[in-house]
Amino acid sequence: MTVQLNHTIIEAHDKKETAAFLTEVLGLGEPVSYGPFAVVQAANGVSLDVMRTDAPVHPQHYAFLVSEDEFDQIFGRITERGLEYWADPYGREPGRINHNDGGRGVYWNDPNGHRLEIITRPYGG
Ligand SMILES: [Fe+2]
Repeated sequence: MTVQLNHTIIEAHDKKETAAFLTEVLGLGEPVSYGPFAVVQAANGVSLDVMRTDAPVHPQHYAFLVSEDEFDQIFGRITERGLEYWADPYGREPGRINHNDGGRGVYWNDPNGHRLEIITRPYGG
């Protein structure tokens, strides 16, 4: 099979703010405008197409596989910004990271309430 996830849409109250938040915290390249989207490109070819909505945002979950060095850098930016973070997806373990699957992981929210996650090992890996 050659089916690959190519892009997904991220609903946002403020498209520019959300795209900048993603690229700055994750350390990705500048967003690119494409039609109604601010396109954030992940390293594996999947793009996150941020789209403004005036309707209430339905919070989604977006997880990113990162290296140990990248985890340090991204987690550093999360704490520098004073963002809340959790070791678990339900927000029951604030101020902690997890060590699931022998790696490290942490959850935090984007400005719209989307729950973001970085992991250094894939689930079950
Ligand atoms: Fe997840």
